[in-house]
Amino acid sequence: MSNKFKIIALVASALLMSSVAHARESTSEWLISFERMKGVKPVTDKKYAKECGECHFAYQPGLLPAKSWEKLLDAKALKNHFGENAELDEATLQDIQAYAAENAAETSWYKRSRKIAAATANGPAPLRITELRYISRVHHEIPEKMIKGNKDVKSLSQCNACHTQAAKGVFDSDTVSIPNYPDFD
Ligand code: HEC
Ligand code: HEC
Repeated sequence: MSNKFKIIALVASALLMSSVAHARESTSEWLISFERMKGVKPVTDKKYAKECGECHFAYQPGLLPAKSWEKLLDAKALKNHFGENAELDEATLQDIQAYAAENAAETSWYKRSRKIAAATANGPAPLRITELRYISRVHHEIPEKMIKGNKDVKSLSQCNACHTQAAKGVFDSDTVSIPNYPDFD
């Protein structure tokens, strides 16, 4: 290796290591699953999956920044969570808060999380994923009759009604199938 290349390799690895230090997912996890990391990291916490998947799809923490999870997972806020009582006992709440914070959009290497983190870095904390400009924009052209007027969807918040691989963190348009409207694309 020429000296010039050695220097380039050194700088490149230093850059890689320093950016890796900022993300909580390990380097090997990142390198090995690069191809799969186009979406968001799937939910790995059993408590989160159970408690937050009771009334709707268990949204991956990587779909919102930490400041949003902080607001959503406040003990008081959960007593009136979009009109429902989603209260948790204190120990469970603490575990879920920690899990969400550790896996929030800005801690992740996954492509969609990075996009969401960048878009929400400044400004107020969104309380809905469906409110994010990026998310509302990609759904803009779906007629209301296919969402609210669709008995098998009802709300854009029901990601997994249409995204067949949502639980895997995959939201690509080629994995979408709107119930009762198989020909929409
Ligand atoms: C008792 C039922 C219930 C439980 C339990 C519950 N939620 Fe919800 N959640 C709702 C309802 C209802 C909505 C509003 C859905 C809609 O507008 O269609 C909602 C919406 C949300 C949204 C916004 C979705 C969007 O539109 O982008 C997030 C984020 C969310 N919940 C996170 C959580 C988390 C995290 C937990 C676990 C601590 C949780 N929820 C537990 C009922 C619940
Ligand atoms: C009514 C069905 C439906 C629901 C519910 C829905 N989506 Fe989608 N989503 C679609 C369709 C259809 C597309 C493809 C749009 C296109 O290709 O123009 C899409 C596209 C996307 C994309 C962009 C995909 C790409 O290839 O770039 C993302 C990200 C996404 N949805 C996330 C979500 C999330 C997160 C939720 C829940 C909060 C959700 N969607 C709920 C139907 C839905």
